[in-house]
Amino acid sequence: MNDTKNPLAGLEEWEDFLKERYPEPKAKPSQAANPEKKKEEFRNYESDARPSVREFYRLNHRHQTYDFVQAKRKEFLSRTRREMSVWEALEYLNTLVDDSDPDTDLSQLDHLLQTAEQIRGDGHPRWFILAGLIHDLGKILCLYGEPQWAVVGDTFPVGCAWSDRIVFHQFFADNADSQEARYQTRLGVYEEGRGLDQVCLSWGHDEYPFHVVKDYLPPEALYMIRYHSFYPAHRGGEYGHLMNELDRTMFKWVRAFNPYDLYTKSHQRPNLAELRPFYDDLIREYLPAKLRW
Ligand SMILES: [Fe+2]
Repeated sequence: MNDTKNPLAGLEEWEDFLKERYPEPKAKPSQAANPEKKKEEFRNYESDARPSVREFYRLNHRHQTYDFVQAKRKEFLSRTRREMSVWEALEYLNTLVDDSDPDTDLSQLDHLLQTAEQIRGDGHPRWFILAGLIHDLGKILCLYGEPQWAVVGDTFPVGCAWSDRIVFHQFFADNADSQEARYQTRLGVYEEGRGLDQVCLSWGHDEYPFHVVKDYLPPEALYMIRYHSFYPAHRGGEYGHLMNELDRTMFKWVRAFNPYDLYTKSHQRPNLAELRPFYDDLIREYLPAKLRW
């Protein structure tokens, strides 16, 4: 997969970079005055990034224009490609081989089960566990032949000014929208406080599975799926002016989900045969036997 179109050795290289940029918050936030913490904050993630990651963001920021996102929404959100159960989708995603983590041969399904099991172990509601299991199913976009920069990457609104807290902000200079005055204001094509549902984010693996399950899961779980890569908002605190009250309430859940997404991967392979009955029940509780993809 490592070529000029797809610079990452695997999608996990992007997630490894996220962990560098957003280190696990310390248990005691009172350590803010600690010089160690200061060093962390001022670290330059961009200059430390691997060349492959840098190139990935260059492509992402260059090509994710407002028109590109509209075209991808039209192409994928009608969901006429396949009908698959959750397990079929998980098995399909499992055919995606990630070469970026040479230390382990854990599959995409193993990682998703690890996330879900950690959520379950912490005693969270059943829909929270299910969100953990399915939140990355949108990565099957890669198997449809989509380039990495249109599948992963921290998402950001298109059609309005890019927050300067988006990583590698300078690469937006090569985005055609930088020449469109109507897309370069604080609100752009949107209205203040109208809500994120009206806002198009850069295209990737969050929006697509949200549409697949949006009729079935509680809103908290849907927000987790739809916005889990929206780091400029849920970790950066940006774009509050586009949110409404519901978004602000629901983003508490997006933030609650984030540590399970980012910090739960281990080398321990989950025992699928043992876990399968629990997850069969869980999937049946919320979702129909077949979903449209
Ligand atoms: Fe993800």
